[in-house]
Amino acid sequence: MPKIRLEPVRGMRDIIPPDSNEILWLENSFAEVARRYGYEYVILPVVESFKVFEVKSGPEIRRSMYVFEDKAGRVVCLRPELTAIAARVYLRKLQTSPKPVKIFYIGKAFRYEEPQRGRYREFIQAGVEYIGEESIYADAELILLIRDYLKYIGLNEYSVKLGNMAIYRSLFNAWGIQEDVQDEIIHYIDKKELGKAVDIVSKHIANGAEIIEGLSKCVGSDPDELLKCAERSGLPKELINTHVSRLSKLLSIIRELGVKGAYADLGFARGLAYYTGIIFEVIPKGMSLSIGGGGRYDTLISTYGGPKTPATGFALGIDRIHLALKNVGKVFRDEVVKIALIPLIMNYRVIDEVASRLRGEGAVVNVLLRSRLSTAISIASSKGYDYIAIIGEKEVREGVVTIKNLRSRRQRSISIKKLTLGELP
Ligand code: HAM
Repeated sequence: MPKIRLEPVRGMRDIIPPDSNEILWLENSFAEVARRYGYEYVILPVVESFKVFEVKSGPEIRRSMYVFEDKAGRVVCLRPELTAIAARVYLRKLQTSPKPVKIFYIGKAFRYEEPQRGRYREFIQAGVEYIGEESIYADAELILLIRDYLKYIGLNEYSVKLGNMAIYRSLFNAWGIQEDVQDEIIHYIDKKELGKAVDIVSKHIANGAEIIEGLSKCVGSDPDELLKCAERSGLPKELINTHVSRLSKLLSIIRELGVKGAYADLGFARGLAYYTGIIFEVIPKGMSLSIGGGGRYDTLISTYGGPKTPATGFALGIDRIHLALKNVGKVFRDEVVKIALIPLIMNYRVIDEVASRLRGEGAVVNVLLRSRLSTAISIASSKGYDYIAIIGEKEVREGVVTIKNLRSRRQRSISIKKLTLGELP
């Protein structure tokens, strides 16, 4: 037999308790908050046709995709993100639903990147897509949802960087730059390689470099100052009145609604090529990686052959949020009561009755088979259990269960028929 390597494939991770439990809680909490905003859950394929991503992903994502042929020769990929799939599924299955369509998802995504802390080849995204609404209040809602989620899980210090891709797209269109060249320039702006972006722009338009460099200096949280800075950059008036104004308005709305870390950056671009308007990223204090990003993609659905449909959305990186919470010393406390049930004799009817009564009230009841009492107590304590419940011969005879509180050390015998969480010592 060939020996099996026990390490996972490079860039993949084996996630076990407590990390896996904490990540499950982060996912469930996201579902809870997204549902409170009226989003509905969708389950999307992990393996997708490469074509879905080929058109509008941008150079960065395309280069890092896991692409292969399946056994029938179809060119497929592991999804590098879920928005493009959501757009496809919207066209195929949700187009006739009343608009707006608001969906959320939680699932794995794959990118063949150089692994490092917070950057994996397999990671979890939790995101929403808000399809069929062009109002700025839809973009604002996304940021409020993120605000509420981060509050819910206890991540309180972060900034939200806002930008507007419409500024760059309109400029480049006006300068006659072809779309694939635009994507390349945007890729460099996204990577903060402004020199390379400016080199390409200069080939197309004389004062282009000046404007791009001027825009990159407009960073701040004051909505009025943003407009003034855009004027200084030499950006055409009509773009200021439309796209910079929209950004400035969004900034003032979300700052007013308590997103203290919000600011705008006119030199901010995102590498995904489908963005057409407002974009944003969330960066926790003390971390350089973003824990989430999103934006408006008003032409993606029509690129796939559908009618012109405005849409916006975001995805959070659950693994990075987990790291960020650990960085701030978050204690993940299990709120449910946890009970280790130790049967000293195997009367499975009584064991099930005791366990079912307690589980019925939401408690975790872990039956520890074949344990000696002392071993069971030490297992239960080391796993953070609150109680041990003992069922021995005497208990079965008297119809009771003996329950010991592992923190206060108090102990009681409770009649099984009357057993509730409220009776526990
Ligand atoms: P994205 O910015 O490429 O956007 O990814 C969203 C989040 O996924 C990032 O902010 C990050 O937290 C996480 N992430 C990305 N790559 C990795 C990685 N290699 N390892 C760990 N975490 C990672 C999107 O994917 C868009 N689909 C978001 C969107 C939805 N836009 C509109 N709707």
